[in-house]
Amino acid sequence: MDITVEKSKPLKGVIEIPSDKSITHRAFMFSALTKGICKIKNFSKGADCMSTLKIIENLGCTIKYINDKELIINAKNALKAPTQKLYCGNSGTTTRLIMGILAGQNFNTELFGDESLSNRPMKRVIAPLELMGAEIIHNNYKLPIEIKGKTLNGINYISPLASAQVKSCILLAGLNAEGETSFTEPYKSRNHTELMFQLMGADITINANKATVKKSKLHPIDITVCGDISSAAFFIIAGLIVPESEITLTNVGINETRSGIIDVLKSMNADIELFNERTISNEKIADIKVRYSHLKSTKIEGGIIPRLIDELPIIAVAATQAEGTTIIKDAQDLRNKETDRIKAITNELNKLGADIQETPDGFIINGKTELIGNCEINCYHDHRIAMSAYIAGLICKKPIKINEFQWVNISFPEFLSLFNKITC
Ligand code: S3P
Repeated sequence: MDITVEKSKPLKGVIEIPSDKSITHRAFMFSALTKGICKIKNFSKGADCMSTLKIIENLGCTIKYINDKELIINAKNALKAPTQKLYCGNSGTTTRLIMGILAGQNFNTELFGDESLSNRPMKRVIAPLELMGAEIIHNNYKLPIEIKGKTLNGINYISPLASAQVKSCILLAGLNAEGETSFTEPYKSRNHTELMFQLMGADITINANKATVKKSKLHPIDITVCGDISSAAFFIIAGLIVPESEITLTNVGINETRSGIIDVLKSMNADIELFNERTISNEKIADIKVRYSHLKSTKIEGGIIPRLIDELPIIAVAATQAEGTTIIKDAQDLRNKETDRIKAITNELNKLGADIQETPDGFIINGKTELIGNCEINCYHDHRIAMSAYIAGLICKKPIKINEFQWVNISFPEFLSLFNKITC
């Protein structure tokens, strides 16, 4: 599906942000480990989470939809050997987390994915799982892989990467390993796994950047998933850069390990206000009001990077509209996402008329530049590049065409219909 985006009028109104992808993956997978019945409310309908749901079904769970926002996972007969290879689609989170679960089972499994996922690095999880005693057959640490179920032993792993996917993989393996399993990371990555483990009664302790689990069972519970700050990010920045806009986004997850974007935007002089703060299923949420703002440049580096890693493409769009030079460093792992996001964003925003320079671990963005548009944009099979281009298109002088915009469905199938609600 190719779409055309034209210069926008002011954005006005209130919208509810749909479900968090990271938390939904975990709600689905962890329910599969409970041997009981869990209700998941407000789950993500993005294709990535549907890949996870299909996999736990293949592993013996029964899924019953109550309505289009709620479903029940019956894991009484799970986990058992699947009768087919498990398809992870485009989803790195599905792959890396499920590997932690499957490595310690008493059956074998095979995982495969789409073209983008088959090129993504899996050594980051295979290496520590092997230290735990896992047997994983692979070619150059890429999908497809075969996992031979083994009895695992706990490890004390010091990770070179701050990565929630690696951390979650190892903690999941640790739930079913002999002894104690610890994961220490250089900076704290998103902690949804730790928070949900606590809710489900796992034996977990957290000490700064170190999480430790002992062999334990997860109890069945009902989980309500909050709205995804990574989805809200596109609307927040649209509200900040489309002149005269004022929008309110409700039900947004503001977990400290995910809310780096709010801190960065505030440092850029953004008019952004959080209110109605509350906690649901161990996750903090708030409503967010944003108004068009005169942004100024900033520097983003170090420990804040894991707190906004998925938002960097759309932050780059905001930086094109900020006075001065914005520098983004320490984000080399952006090159290992659904596509090389440093290259993709640099290529596509420069086409629109931005002034962005690629560096090995980030960007240098000179602003404020007028975006001209009048060109075709590629998504690189990447939902976040597609949505970032859409927001940039709202302030281009001339229309832009975005090729293969359907990639948005990976995380945010509601994107266009919600946008229509705030377009006057
Ligand atoms: C995710 C963790 C992040 C993020 C990804 C989702 C998760 O990846 O980029 O979109 O749900 O755990 P890393 O943990 O590899 O940084």
